[in-house]
Amino acid sequence: MTRALIKVADIIKQGLAKKIVVLAGAGISTPSGLPDFRSPNSGLYDNLEQYSLPYAEAVFDIEYFVRNPVPFFQVAKKLYPGNYAPNSAHSFIKLLQDKNMLLRMYTQNIDGLERLAGIKEDKLIEAHGSFSTAACIACDKKYTADDIKADIFSDRIPKCTKCQNIIKPKIVFFGEMLPKRFMMHLQDLPMADLLIVMGTSLEVYPFSSLADAVSARIPRILINKKIAGTFKYSPRPNDLVHEGDIVEAIEQLTELCGWKETSLDC
Ligand code: OAD
Ligand code: ZN
Repeated sequence: MTRALIKVADIIKQGLAKKIVVLAGAGISTPSGLPDFRSPNSGLYDNLEQYSLPYAEAVFDIEYFVRNPVPFFQVAKKLYPGNYAPNSAHSFIKLLQDKNMLLRMYTQNIDGLERLAGIKEDKLIEAHGSFSTAACIACDKKYTADDIKADIFSDRIPKCTKCQNIIKPKIVFFGEMLPKRFMMHLQDLPMADLLIVMGTSLEVYPFSSLADAVSARIPRILINKKIAGTFKYSPRPNDLVHEGDIVEAIEQLTELCGWKETSLDC
């Protein structure tokens, strides 16, 4: 057990954390079998050679997508919701929600596992969008995930029935605006009394800036394989860092909080 987990559990047990904000990234979904983006070898960006991309992140670049949507749809086929289940990291956040301690969860993930774990829509900000809806890139005609699923799984580019342009899942690409709901951070983060950051390299702006938007008085904890972002480059005196596997950390934290009897199964 690290000091960081013990300290956070103490804060929670003392009832000092009633407005927790969680910031999450792909590292919370690797225990469900999904790849993250930037881990060497296993991360998605190290496994795109066959698409001859100019650079790995081009797979999520809107200008590149319009010219060549094939790599994105091949990746989408791999990541498409339906094949993965939430894990104890998601269940822990649901537990915070059930205990009325969760002010909001901001996730960069597009896998929909937060919703599957039961995190309510009003508690959740999917900052980088999701596969749940889609729209034509030209006329903006809306489609559901089911409308385009058969095309994606048959290696066809989904095309708009109205104008024949490409239908793109509502995932936020580089070069696109974040959803309007993301702006809720302006009100949420100054209000937070504990910030839990988990499974993210904090490398993508503006999401990464959320970690700096909380009051300097409140504790921020990072649970991640390795220290990242603001915790590394602009640390604050009451920061807490737990370097290790997310599932192991969550199991320890659950036990330290005295919540072990509460099942984390989804
Ligand atoms: P990254 O792949 O950049 O970072 C994931 C972090 O999780 C890394 O620091 C890993 O070390 C850590 N990690 C992985 N598995 C873990 C485990 N089992 N336990 C603990 N830590 C673990 O993913 P994100 O930060 O989510 O954008 O990336 C942010 C954005 O970049 C994504 O939303 C995506 C990407 O481009 C879009 O899709 C638009
Ligand atoms: Zn159209």
